[in-house]
Amino acid sequence: MKSILDNRPALGKEINQVAEVAGYLWQKGWAERNGGNIVVNITDLIDDEIKQWAPISDVVPIGTTLPYLKGCYFYCKGTNMRMRDLARWPMENGSVIRIQDDCASYVIIADAPVKPTSELPSHLCMHNHLLNKGSSYKASLHTHPIDLIAMTHHQPFLQKDVLTNLLWSMIPETKAFCPRGLGIIPYALPSSVALAEATIVELEEYDVVMWEKHGVCAVGEDIMAAFDQVDVLSKSAQIYINARSMGFMPDGMSQEQMKEMTVAFNLPK
Ligand code: 13P
Ligand code: ZN
Repeated sequence: MKSILDNRPALGKEINQVAEVAGYLWQKGWAERNGGNIVVNITDLIDDEIKQWAPISDVVPIGTTLPYLKGCYFYCKGTNMRMRDLARWPMENGSVIRIQDDCASYVIIADAPVKPTSELPSHLCMHNHLLNKGSSYKASLHTHPIDLIAMTHHQPFLQKDVLTNLLWSMIPETKAFCPRGLGIIPYALPSSVALAEATIVELEEYDVVMWEKHGVCAVGEDIMAAFDQVDVLSKSAQIYINARSMGFMPDGMSQEQMKEMTVAFNLPK
């Protein structure tokens, strides 16, 4: 079968990285059934030939208008598709879409008419926000890490930056590799535009945000970078949970040690 990846090594490399990360999400236990989704802005990898391709779907409304996405191309995980399947067959479990000139709808252009993830409004709002800010970030990830979701079932952890400071203090690298911390978004209906709008408010301040009692959303230069930020936060959550299950409250790094880290690694806050 003809694929958009044929004779396009740069695009192939990008989609291979998506497949690699999808495999990690499954191995980590963060991707039960169809849980989680990935959207990558591949506009820079789209050549003139692809731009001529006819749509293979109807025009589908996004549910909101996103002016910075006009004519952009995205690889999207398909709705109801499994990460563990996407890891092996990315173009059968996802598709490439083009945003229409009205900035409010899209068409699928390759390889097969696989309907994009139900969280498309949130992902596209995040990409619109990134482009508006002139960011070079190309990837957005939503996943269901057990440890981090469990922590959002406890009200005191939902206060601003309580989890950020707790997780940063578990191991020095967490602050170094997730320097903007973890934003918290109160529970909202999955796939809703309300959830999407709340997400981009928090992205002003954070690269990784928690959807209360649901999952994590992260953005990054590429999908591996987005995954890495969630992975370091999850590692910290594991250290906290392990200490608690050994029967003690972990000390955490001291304020002085945190300050020393911030200066030594030239971190923003
Ligand atoms: P999709 O299968 O539509 O991508 O949904 C998975 C999910 O995690 C919804 O929040
Ligand atoms: Zn989800």
